[in-house]
Amino acid sequence: MLVGTVCALLAAVLGFLPSVTAATCDASSQSITRVIGYYDSGAVSRPCAAMMPYFFPQGIYSHIYFASGSIHPDTFEVVPSAARDKKLYPYLAMLHTRDLGQELWLSIGGRAFSDNGAPTATTFSDLAAADIIQQNVFFTSLIRFMHTYHFVGVDIDWEYPVASDRNGRAEDYANYPKFLANLKAVLDEYKFGLSITLPTSDRYLQHFDLASIEPSVDWFNFMSYDLHGTWHIGDEWNGAVNAHTNLTEIKNALDLLWRRNVHPFKVNMDMSFHGRSFTLADPSCTEPGCAFLSGGDAGECSMSAGTLFNSEINRMIHQDNLTPTLDSDAVVKTLTWNTDQWVSYDDQDTWKIKADFAKSQCLGGVFVRSVDEDDRNHTFSKGLMAALGNELNLDVTNGLTKVAFNELSAKTGSRSQSSHSQYCRFANCGAACPNGFTEIPRAGETSQIMQDPTGCPPDSDQTQTLCCPTSSKVPTCQWRGSQGTGECTGECNSDEAEVGTSTAGCTSGHQSACCSITKSTEPWSRCQWTPTCKGDNTCTSGYDHFVVGSRQGWGGRQSCSGGEHYNYCCSGSSVPDIFSKCDWTALPFGDYCSASCPADSIRIAGQSVSFRTDQTNPHGYSYGNEAYCCSGAKQVSTPQSSASTVLKEQTAEEFRGYLQQFLANPVIPEGLADRVAAAL
Ligand SMILES: *[C@@H]1O[C@H](CO)[C@@H](O)[C@H](O)[C@H]1NC(C)=O
Ligand SMILES: *[C@@H]1O[C@H](CO)[C@@H](O)[C@H](O)[C@H]1NC(C)=O
Repeated sequence: MLVGTVCALLAAVLGFLPSVTAATCDASSQSITRVIGYYDSGAVSRPCAAMMPYFFPQGIYSHIYFASGSIHPDTFEVVPSAARDKKLYPYLAMLHTRDLGQELWLSIGGRAFSDNGAPTATTFSDLAAADIIQQNVFFTSLIRFMHTYHFVGVDIDWEYPVASDRNGRAEDYANYPKFLANLKAVLDEYKFGLSITLPTSDRYLQHFDLASIEPSVDWFNFMSYDLHGTWHIGDEWNGAVNAHTNLTEIKNALDLLWRRNVHPFKVNMDMSFHGRSFTLADPSCTEPGCAFLSGGDAGECSMSAGTLFNSEINRMIHQDNLTPTLDSDAVVKTLTWNTDQWVSYDDQDTWKIKADFAKSQCLGGVFVRSVDEDDRNHTFSKGLMAALGNELNLDVTNGLTKVAFNELSAKTGSRSQSSHSQYCRFANCGAACPNGFTEIPRAGETSQIMQDPTGCPPDSDQTQTLCCPTSSKVPTCQWRGSQGTGECTGECNSDEAEVGTSTAGCTSGHQSACCSITKSTEPWSRCQWTPTCKGDNTCTSGYDHFVVGSRQGWGGRQSCSGGEHYNYCCSGSSVPDIFSKCDWTALPFGDYCSASCPADSIRIAGQSVSFRTDQTNPHGYSYGNEAYCCSGAKQVSTPQSSASTVLKEQTAEEFRGYLQQFLANPVIPEGLADRVAAAL
């Protein structure tokens, strides 16, 4: 401690730069199981090597990142980049049924997103600079989008903040970390993940406030590919041939991260499935540094001058009997053919050296950009797996991936079921119902659902939606107590459970949310709020077990004053389990506190609050609401569907037959992908 302080002092006094100390790990004992495959949606419309999600290899990738989602530049709502994408999401979501541990993430942005002339050229800057109300529009639509299409993580691919040649602004430096912290707070409520991409060139990397960003992200995808290409004409590389990926340069680039104290476990390195090609100016000069005229000839499937998929390079090697050269400093393969064509690329040999290097630097993962550049035999995904020293994560007896193979799955809310998943609850402000839950129609009102705006940020248009599990009988619910005069007399019938109250439309009294008693509302039917304010914890007779006192009951009652509160009390022998293990929480959202509960807990009371957050600042107040959130003592695990499930439906039986046939010989008929792709 003392020594460290003295060193820091000395360093400060003498003004020398701290030397870079990369963490070192023993490569032979490290493993890398965070293996991310980006999927470029353009892959379905290629003339050849079109890649539908069901062609992905199984048991290799821990995460699939769909690239890319977009943001409406005016409203900030999350939207698909192309109409076709919506048809792809269900295929991607289905991957999870065979790769049990795999997570589907949405990558938002991408290089073209911020290109000059794109409608979204400044959208990231605008969003990061927006106030919390506007950012909430993005967050709310994002959560809804993720729930709808089964994404469990988000990747922000902003290329790049601040950089004026990429439509960035100086203010991005300070705004980006704040925006990510806000985003992370929202995602955390659903246990969704967050990553961002990072450039390797310091010219762009210097504009990321990494120290402020790191706490908000699960990991960084460090784009250690496409370092050089035809886009370098006219800059410092000045039309000279260079390998697009080069370990010497990657090492230097990683040092920039270590210099900024980034934790190596949070860094993923790219392993590319494509090469970058050039047409040489002088066929006798084929070394890095030689001049080029233009990009190499376009490949028949990749169809873009200067780019070749590994599958295309492989085909050339076999057809023309070519011999690639390994550059052992840069750790890259190069190939010259047709007199003046030159390409640099990775293969299993270079991935192996890079993987060992990544392990020695204690990196947490690797990513492929992109998995759709593989061939149908999965030659390159399998090569990467071998290079990483990983085994195919597959149980051949049932054709399923054996275990969840990454660290996030264990804490993903949608996967781990608590006893709470059996009961109705009002969702947090602006949130959609979680997976496995449904909205409840308002009985007697056409096309309305049970919602309550109480306690949501003012002017936000947000409401709390009543959500009930679909695993048991869904109750019928309605609001009771409005006379249409502003004088409300909320109360439920004796054969109903009160699951909430609201003062919306009431100048006195409140309305009650009343539901039929089903398995999912049963605990509420055993408990009730005292009808009047109390100065102590007394309960109505017959409801002897005190749970909590709150000035506004659920949050939607006329407020008690003078330190008094309504008391929530339960009948029977004890408090229902789901109303146990509770805490008051207030999640700050800018300077507004939202009565939100973390995932896996249920809000049973709420009240308005106002408290000082900054003693030195007279305006340092937070206001809003706090919530009483209960997580229950018991955690039950919902059994996964087992092979012995009795299938009542004839179609299900037939499907099982087809599935078994397929598993016995898992080959997708040739041409099927093209038929499906053509139908999109
Ligand atoms: C790799 O990068 C180093 C440093 O920039 C450079 O000197 C070398 O020529 C590069 N190698 C290749 C094959 O491009
Ligand atoms: C896939 O493997 C089969 C059998 O080894 C081979 O005949 C076929 O050419 C391969 N296809 C591709 C696209 O590599």
